[in-house]
Amino acid sequence: MTIKIAVSGAAGQIGYALLPHLANGHVFGHEQVELRLLEIPQALKSLAGTRYELLDCAFPTLSDVICTADPLEAFDNADVVVLVGGFPRLKGMQRKDLITRNTSIFTSMGQALNDVAASDVKVLVVANPANTNCLVTLKECSSRINPKNFCALTYLDHQRAKGQIAQRLGVSANKVKNVTIWGNHSETLYPDALTDGYLVDEVGNKMPLKSTLSAEDVDWLKGAFVSTVQNRGKKVIEIRGSSSAMSAAISAADCLKKWLVTGTQDGETISMAVYNDQGYYGIAKDIVFSFPCVCKNGEWIVKEGLTLSKLAYERLEISQNELLEEREAALELIEPKLKRSISTSSSTISMMSTASEGSLSDVKSSSVVERNAILSKI
Ligand SMILES: NC(=O)c1ccc[n+]([C@@H]2O[C@H](COP(=O)([O-])OP(=O)(O)OC[C@H]3O[C@@H](n4cnc5c(N)ncnc54)[C@H](O)[C@@H]3O)[C@@H](O)[C@H]2O)c1
Repeated sequence: MTIKIAVSGAAGQIGYALLPHLANGHVFGHEQVELRLLEIPQALKSLAGTRYELLDCAFPTLSDVICTADPLEAFDNADVVVLVGGFPRLKGMQRKDLITRNTSIFTSMGQALNDVAASDVKVLVVANPANTNCLVTLKECSSRINPKNFCALTYLDHQRAKGQIAQRLGVSANKVKNVTIWGNHSETLYPDALTDGYLVDEVGNKMPLKSTLSAEDVDWLKGAFVSTVQNRGKKVIEIRGSSSAMSAAISAADCLKKWLVTGTQDGETISMAVYNDQGYYGIAKDIVFSFPCVCKNGEWIVKEGLTLSKLAYERLEISQNELLEEREAALELIEPKLKRSISTSSSTISMMSTASEGSLSDVKSSSVVERNAILSKI
């Protein structure tokens, strides 16, 4: 079987760094892959050069490379879709304008997926604002494609967090496990190494970070570590002059590999921003929020039952509120259509279980009530 993989924004810097990892067996092992590279018409010429390069690599696992500006051609019967292309945040641009521009792009992406993709397609959204772009896309095809088939990339933040800890402790990064990125892929994300994070020693014993590290290291995890991970993307732009590309591409490839191919190791979680239909950890339903996830047989499952500190819940709430605001800005554009579909589609009703009962402000206030109930127990 040939796996059909579509990548939007394929001529951009992340696309360029990502494509070899999809083509060379790093993600999908010995399976044959067909790449469909999607771009805006103006970028098709440079995309043709990328296609030549891919063919020149003579990867034995690459069966074909198609370049197109038509999402319907790119997504036709696609098994895996990686949405990297989006409208960039220009200097001086308000976040709301960024959301408006991208909502229109991701509405079209969702409609094209709905029309032609395989019904079990798996979709990874990389383009920012990644969580809300993912929400917009999945809402456009929820009557045919399960929202569980989508995730937005926070695995880069996860890897950044692991890298910071490994460097501080002088250990290999693969000895650091179960750091969690909670929330939005933005500066409100909460990198949390103390709730479930552990080190693996030479014989495989798990040593929880909160009880193994010195008081000084724990203080660092509560302070400088958090702001370093939250601001890492900005720092890379400041120093490199452009945004993270190699690390974003590698983490997108590795997220796909863990999610769809290998699964997570026994006891391991990775961070993935997923559709919150259950209200995990008291977080508002109907947003795409990053949680600790276990992956098995091509599915993600949020790890539940972790005990979070009051401080952690406060951080989660900040990120949740930002996502609610982003959703509000996006829904202003797509809500009339969604309201129509709520009254006609039972699958959409279950997906929008909180939103179907009232206005957006009702959703927000009910989640705050849930949150206050949790905080009062701590
Ligand atoms: N989630 C993460 O961890 C993470 C990390 C880094 C960057 N990003 C985001 O990834 C996105 C891509 O970053 P980049 O550095 O590759 O940007 P880039 O500007 O180099 O490339 C983006 C590409 O998308 C294309 N594009 C724009 N609109 C499109 C559309 N409607 N259909 C198809 N293609 C379209 C552009 O022509 C361009 O080639 C950005 O939104 C960036 O903010 C996310």
